[in-house]
Amino acid sequence: MKQGRAHLGLVGLGVMGQNLALNFADHGFRVAVFNRSPEKTREFLQRLDPERGIVPAWTPEELVARLDPPRVILLMVAAGPAVDELLDRFTQLLAPGDVVLDGGNSHFRDTQRRGAALAGRGFRFLGLGISGGELGARYGPCLMPGGDEAGYELVRPLLEKIAAWVNGEPCVAYLGPGAAGHFVKMVHNGIEYALEQLLAEAYDLLHRGLGLNYQELAEIFTKFNEGELRSYLVEITGQIFRRRDPQTGQPLVALIRDVAGQKGTGIWTSQAALDLGVPIPTIDMAVALRHLSARWEERQAAAALLPGPGPFLPQDPEGLGFIDKLAQALYAGMVMAFAQGLALLRRASEEYGYGVDLETV
Ligand SMILES: NC(=O)c1ccc[n+]([C@@H]2O[C@H](COP(=O)([O-])OP(=O)(O)OC[C@H]3O[C@@H](n4cnc5c(N)ncnc54)[C@H](OP(=O)(O)O)[C@@H]3O)[C@@H](O)[C@H]2O)c1
Repeated sequence: MKQGRAHLGLVGLGVMGQNLALNFADHGFRVAVFNRSPEKTREFLQRLDPERGIVPAWTPEELVARLDPPRVILLMVAAGPAVDELLDRFTQLLAPGDVVLDGGNSHFRDTQRRGAALAGRGFRFLGLGISGGELGARYGPCLMPGGDEAGYELVRPLLEKIAAWVNGEPCVAYLGPGAAGHFVKMVHNGIEYALEQLLAEAYDLLHRGLGLNYQELAEIFTKFNEGELRSYLVEITGQIFRRRDPQTGQPLVALIRDVAGQKGTGIWTSQAALDLGVPIPTIDMAVALRHLSARWEERQAAAALLPGPGPFLPQDPEGLGFIDKLAQALYAGMVMAFAQGLALLRRASEEYGYGVDLETV
C-alpha cells in the first residue's frame, strides 16, 4: 500500500469510532479517519503513536482521496439525519462499486430505504449491527452485517479480523439483504432489555424480599454464573455488588438512582413486534418498566403514600429453597425472552425477505 493510502475510511470519532479505529489498526489495517468536529480528530491523533496506522482526513474529499477503489467507508455516527447527511455528502465523492457501511444503531426502515436508494445508484450499502459496546469495539465486537452481499464479501476480511473470536470462529456472519443486520441488532437489544429487567427483579426479590445484603447478593449471582445461568450479564451482576464507591466506601449499587434510560432500539423492537403481530411480552414489559423507572419524582410521591412492605418473603434461613426456585424462574424468563426475540426475527424474515438463518444468529 502506497504511503498515505488507507484500507478504509472511518467517519465519526465518538466512543465507538475511536475504539473501532484502534481495533482495525491493531490488525494491521490503515485507517483514514474523519470527524465532523476537527478538534476530536486532533485530540484522538495526539494520543496516538504516528506509526499506528491511523491517518487524519480533515474533509470528506481528503478521506475519499486516501482510499483506492473499491473504496470502503464505515459510518459510526449518531443514528438519524446525520447518516442521511453523510450519505448525501460522501456519495457525491464515491463511485459505483464502492462500499458504505452504517455501523450505528439505525432504524431498520431507514436502512431499508437507504439501501434501496444507494443500490439504484450502484453503491454497495450494508447496515452493520455492532454489539459489545466500547470494549467490544476496541477488542472484538459481535458484528451483524446485512445488505449488499457482494459488498459484504469485499469487507469480510476486515470484519473477520476485528470481530470477537469464539471457539475458533469470528462473531460475524452475513445475515441477509436489506436491513437484516440492523433488524437482528435491534432484536438483540430488545432481548438484552428483557434480560436486564429479569436480573433487576431477581435482585429486588433477594434484596427487599429476603433482606439479603450486597455481599450475599454478590455470592448468589456468582454462584448463578457457575450453573445454567452462566452468561456475561449474570457475571457482571455478581461483580457489581462487590463494587464500592471510592469516595464514600459505600456499596456502589446503593448509591445509583434506580432510573434506566433508553436510546430507542428496545422501543423499536416492541413497535416492530406490534406491526408484525408477534407477542413479545417479556421485552414489552422491560421497555414499559424502563419508562416507569424514569418517572422518579412520581414514584417518590407515590411511595410516600404507599410505602409497600419491607422484607416480605417467608423467612428461609438457608435461603436455598427460594433461591433455587428463583434461579429456575430467572432461567425460564431468559429462555422466554430469547424465544420471543427469535419468533420476531422469524416473522420479520418472512415479511421483509431477509432469509435470516436463526441458527447463525
Ligand atoms: N456506544 C455504544 O455502546 C454503541 C454500541 C453499538 C452501536 N452504537 C451506535 O454507534 C453510533 C455511534 O455511537 P457512539 O457511542 O460512538 O456515539 P458518540 O460517542 O455520541 O459519537 C457520535 C458521533 O456522531 C457524530 N455526529 C453526530 N451528528 C453528526 C452529524 N450531523 N454529522 C456528522 N457527524 C455527526 C459526532 O461528531 P461530533 O464529534 O462532531 O459531534 C460523533 O463523532 C450510534 O448510532 C450508536 O447508537 C453505540
